[in-house]
Amino acid sequence: MILVTGGAGFIGANFVLDWLRQTDEPVLNLDKLTYAGNPENLASLQGDSRYVFVKGDIGDSSLVEKLLTQYAPRAVLNFAAESHVDRSIHGPEDFIQTNVVGTMRLLQSVRSYWQGLPESERADFRFLHVSTDEVYGSLSPTDAAFTETNKLEPNSPYSASKAASDHLVRAWLHTYGLPVLTTNCSNNYGPLHFPEKLIPLLIVNALAGKPLPVYGDGLQVRDWLYVKDHCSAIRRVLAAGKVGEVYNVGGWNEKPNIEIVHTVCSLLDELRPRSDGALYKTQVTYVQDRPGHDRRYAIDAGKIERELGWKPAETFDSGIRKTVQWYLDNPDWVAHVQSGAYREWVQTNYTRRS
Ligand code: NAD
Ligand code: TYD
Repeated sequence: MILVTGGAGFIGANFVLDWLRQTDEPVLNLDKLTYAGNPENLASLQGDSRYVFVKGDIGDSSLVEKLLTQYAPRAVLNFAAESHVDRSIHGPEDFIQTNVVGTMRLLQSVRSYWQGLPESERADFRFLHVSTDEVYGSLSPTDAAFTETNKLEPNSPYSASKAASDHLVRAWLHTYGLPVLTTNCSNNYGPLHFPEKLIPLLIVNALAGKPLPVYGDGLQVRDWLYVKDHCSAIRRVLAAGKVGEVYNVGGWNEKPNIEIVHTVCSLLDELRPRSDGALYKTQVTYVQDRPGHDRRYAIDAGKIERELGWKPAETFDSGIRKTVQWYLDNPDWVAHVQSGAYREWVQTNYTRRS
């Protein structure tokens, strides 16, 4: 069995679903079910004996230790985090609690479990930490893409808390010998993405006839990776990654935000044209920029390709078309996640920008 933390969120849920499509190895999913955790993402697994869900916090050491003893996983994959930069600007506290304190407590619980394993199981055990390219900071237009040897220079409370967690993971290897792996991935997109992040927000706002908010000049650059490709990279690193190594994961898809906005609008014009015949891009609204907004992220995914033979399967064109189609096909999912709490966030983040 494997233990996945944060498996009810966007990437974690895609990972659990893909994992159980490919193997019969059971999954224990420990998730606190914050605003970003949605059990509906995993509703198709109801009654599946290979799947166990436990609601709980990675920082609850007694719960985590009990689960580790009871289920004896061969690996722990840590997806659990507070993950949204704008929320980290409004309220950094939760980010420090989960991403830093929570990761430290999880590492301690796992270390204690791992130390009690028989020798052969100890050698094969893995702790895989899922992190982000944002820990490397911001690039100028001419800088080379991030490699695994770049310094960590985080600029937002979110990326600072993730960088801290990356350091902790490294320290638990060097100090205690815990067999860890770290992945630093670029911006994901795809099904089940919570509509506070750019791509799903654009789709749901466009369909609702609402403004499409572009921060600043819209020329910030991100590297985009289809979520299922991220999941395949994590499976590959878990299976073949070298203990203690860091692997950058990216889609070789650097795009300015405004291009993403126009692509989503064009796809919607084709797949669900507006009833008044107008183009969706007429809904684009430039709004006040994010404080400390990183200008450019770019991932050099050469190491994982050379050493582990991993490459993304989707191009941006194929991945974004699938994504837009998924949101068109799943209006109920969208309606359910747009709860009262979601509306409050939209109010908090966008009212002062307009
Ligand atoms: P998400 O916000 O959609 O999901 C996070 C999940 O973690 C939620 O289900 C939430 O309930 C759970 N969680 C939060 N605090 C918890 C706690 N204390 N204990 C247990 N569960 C808790 O995030 P995501 O986009 O799926 O990201 C998953 C991981 O991947 C994060 O570590 C994030 O930093 C990293 N990452 C995300 C991206 C991206 O583009 N989304 C890119 C690179 C890396
Ligand atoms: P986001 O999806 O929040 O991911 P991240 O900040 O982790 O990269 O944002 C992606 C980019 O889109 C980022 O440069 C901020 C920008 N953005 C907007 O222009 N408008 C929005 O409403 C949001 C949410 C993001």
